[in-house]
Amino acid sequence: MDKLVIEGGVPLQGEVRIAGAKNATLPLMAAALLAEGKTIVKNAPDLFDVLTMGRVIERLGADVQRHDHTMEIDATSLDNFEAPYELVKTMRASVYVLGALLGRCGKARVSLPGGCAWGPRPIDIHLKGIQALGAEIDLDHGYIVADAPKLKGTRFFLDFPSVGATINILLAAVKAEGETVLENVAREPEVTNLVRVLNKMGAKIEGEKTSTLRITGVDGLNPVTCSVIPDRIEAGTYLAAAGLTAGDVLLLGAEPEHLTMVLAKAAEAGIKITVTTEGIRVESDGNLRSVDVETAIYPGFATDMQAQWITLMTGAHGVSLITDIIYPDRFTHVPELMRLGARISMKDNVARVHGPSQLRGAQVMSTDLRASASLVIAALAASGRTDISRIYHLDRGYERLEEKFSQLGARIKREHE
Ligand code: EPZ
Repeated sequence: MDKLVIEGGVPLQGEVRIAGAKNATLPLMAAALLAEGKTIVKNAPDLFDVLTMGRVIERLGADVQRHDHTMEIDATSLDNFEAPYELVKTMRASVYVLGALLGRCGKARVSLPGGCAWGPRPIDIHLKGIQALGAEIDLDHGYIVADAPKLKGTRFFLDFPSVGATINILLAAVKAEGETVLENVAREPEVTNLVRVLNKMGAKIEGEKTSTLRITGVDGLNPVTCSVIPDRIEAGTYLAAAGLTAGDVLLLGAEPEHLTMVLAKAAEAGIKITVTTEGIRVESDGNLRSVDVETAIYPGFATDMQAQWITLMTGAHGVSLITDIIYPDRFTHVPELMRLGARISMKDNVARVHGPSQLRGAQVMSTDLRASASLVIAALAASGRTDISRIYHLDRGYERLEEKFSQLGARIKREHE
């Protein structure tokens, strides 16, 4: 396994190109299964999760080719409808193929995803929505077995605006007979990216960016050329790193509209944010104010930025309360941050961060994708050397991380453990 070795204390300076969003790319790859032909996905990030999704759809009979950041997915002839446990357990977004396969061929056998580092992460809303469209759902030895000779439009209210459930149900609904109204859907930019691409493919979906989607079923969808939106969480991660290291960084290609709450909180913390035609400039003198944060559905403060915000607040004067409403157990990074000298106390789903703390290098361990990112940010600000192990978590969601941080002046390298 690889580890990262970081000599901290360098203010980050320069510009970093924000990659395409992981959480927008994965649904688009599933959507490509709905069209007989070659779908081109541009600005696709080079990430392990994207590779995994490619393996899942290849197992179904699609052909996936990558040329730099452009992916060609030929789903002309699908010859299998099973997404196996050994792939789905490594990446829960594989379950998106359930909705896509039902939309494409009316049947699917998809492994139930496992839990993850911070909780069970059920998919009950996915299944209720797909059943509402008329699919028969059985559970067989850990697999979802779905059968839907003909999906019928319906009115369905999501119990929670789940991103994954919205995506999965939408992929099944676009070809369902008649009209489908989905209420209380997720409004994340990644969902809007999918809605727009599905409409470009010939779907009839109204209500993008709102909590209600109205879908008129169509007979077929066509392959298209589409593009992935920039990754708002990658951008937020580099913003937090610039903020904590008293840096001056231009986030090239970042979309401010997708980060409104994070930018507002960063400004409140004393970080200077300038939106330019090229992206978002982040300037910090390292003098940070403590700012409380509570995660929420979009456009609230993203849970995927919670860990990074805790790290940023270790450098802020005063006490900050960071509450995760979406994933109450998503704090595996806290004990690792404390090894670096962070002063954090936990009570239920609230982290109480006392700052500022002078972080000091240590050996720490990644536990999940965004937790790893929070350790990298801390290590970049800490004095001395930090070794971060199990960085395969990082490789799932951050493209060329050590290269990008090196270009900003960080002393960071990857070593084999
Ligand atoms: C997506 O996961 C993202 N993953 C996650 O990002 C992100 O943390 C999450 O949305 C919340 O924004 C991808 O887009 C691939 P949810 P998802 O369904 O779809 C509950 C990252 O770091 N729920 O919106 O799984 C669930 O338990 C990853 O890139 C149900 O109860 O999230 C959670 O409490 C980590 N039943 C809440 O909803 C369901 O059927 C939000 O989950 C589905 C969800």
